[in-house]
Amino acid sequence: MGSNLHDGPVASHQPKMENSPLHNHLHPTSHKAISPHTASKGSENSKMAKKNILITGGAGLVGPLLASRLLNDSDEYHVFLTDLADPIVPQNVAYPQNCTPIKGDITSPSFVSDLINQAQPLHAVFLFHGIMSAGSEANYDLSLSVNVDSVRLITSTLRQTNPGVRVIYSSSQAVYGQPLPGKVTDEVLPTPESTYGAHKLLTETYLTEMHRKKFLDVIIVRFPTISVRPGKPTQAASSWLSGIIREPMAGQECVVPIEDRRFKSFLSSPKTIAENLVRVLSLESTKLPSHRRVVQFPGVSVSVQELLDALAKYGGREKLDLVKEVSDEEQERIVRSWPQDFDLSTPLGKLGLVVDAGAEDIVREYVEGLGK
Ligand SMILES: NC(=O)c1ccc[n+]([C@@H]2O[C@H](COP(=O)([O-])OP(=O)(O)OC[C@H]3O[C@@H](n4cnc5c(N)ncnc54)[C@H](O)[C@@H]3O)[C@@H](O)[C@H]2O)c1
Repeated sequence: MGSNLHDGPVASHQPKMENSPLHNHLHPTSHKAISPHTASKGSENSKMAKKNILITGGAGLVGPLLASRLLNDSDEYHVFLTDLADPIVPQNVAYPQNCTPIKGDITSPSFVSDLINQAQPLHAVFLFHGIMSAGSEANYDLSLSVNVDSVRLITSTLRQTNPGVRVIYSSSQAVYGQPLPGKVTDEVLPTPESTYGAHKLLTETYLTEMHRKKFLDVIIVRFPTISVRPGKPTQAASSWLSGIIREPMAGQECVVPIEDRRFKSFLSSPKTIAENLVRVLSLESTKLPSHRRVVQFPGVSVSVQELLDALAKYGGREKLDLVKEVSDEEQERIVRSWPQDFDLSTPLGKLGLVVDAGAEDIVREYVEGLGK
């Protein structure tokens, strides 16, 4: 993987990040740096035999989801799970001993340098950390620092330490803005209408150029809204698209910020996201042109009414009483700027990704999972 990219020396005019303003973000209690020179020989050898996968955003939704999948699938992976919050070693997996959680701030150059040292030799890197849509809209500078600058920091370091390594970056359908056709095709121009979408697109362009220059082997995946997300509401404008099922199933109220049951969203279940990430990990690099590295992850176009019908079917009709529809102008503006459906011929046909069957499947998967 990525070996076809090792065909030139790494340029020596690397941007010096040490003097950048990012340097001030060091998290004081963050991490124990283990340099490859001081690590014990035994642990080094056992990691050498594995495929080391570094996953950022390791205390969020997608990081642990992928880590669980990899640590259950095979003994061949060693997963380095990093986050600003404490990453937890996934439970109920076949090989929990193959996971190293590392807490720290990904905007800190010294942390990033230690992190990459510790995870050597790297097989692949998944970049899932970030500030979500409503959070980015509320704090432009934080979004710029985390969603843009930190990705530049980690990938410019990787360009030096691991030229040609596979880097999978999570982008979003929020790169699009209106007007949009009923089904978005590969030819539709992204024109974001939010800080989050704009910063994702900026990073996409930066990483695509890193690939075209053969510095790294980049694949950018644009996720649909992931639903049903377990846990608590998030700072995403789409948070209610999980809450509409999750909160009533927990006996709690959910406020849906849009009073239009025909409103459609493009959704994928967590299980399908994990399956497609595993497929992308081993996707042949040449399946995508060197200047077009984006893969739209498959999803299903689902209306609010379809979600409510599925909630009633699998959770019971009384759960509908816990859903309140109260319009919120700003949240509605953001979600209405996103696409409602995509042409999936490239991801499903050419790239061999998979898709959920529909709203009922997504809701049933979540409700059945609650009993386990
Ligand atoms: N969940 C979705 O529906 C969805 C949809 C489209 C795109 N995405 C993208 O996929 C990625 C993963 O999504 P998710 O739902 O797991 O996100 P999440 O919000 O659950 O997790 C993001 C993680 O990033 C961490 N983080 C933030 N700032 C950090 C910093 N300075 N240093 C280190 N870690 C930091 C947070 O602590 C958090 O655990 C994100 O980049 C997101 O933009 C998600």
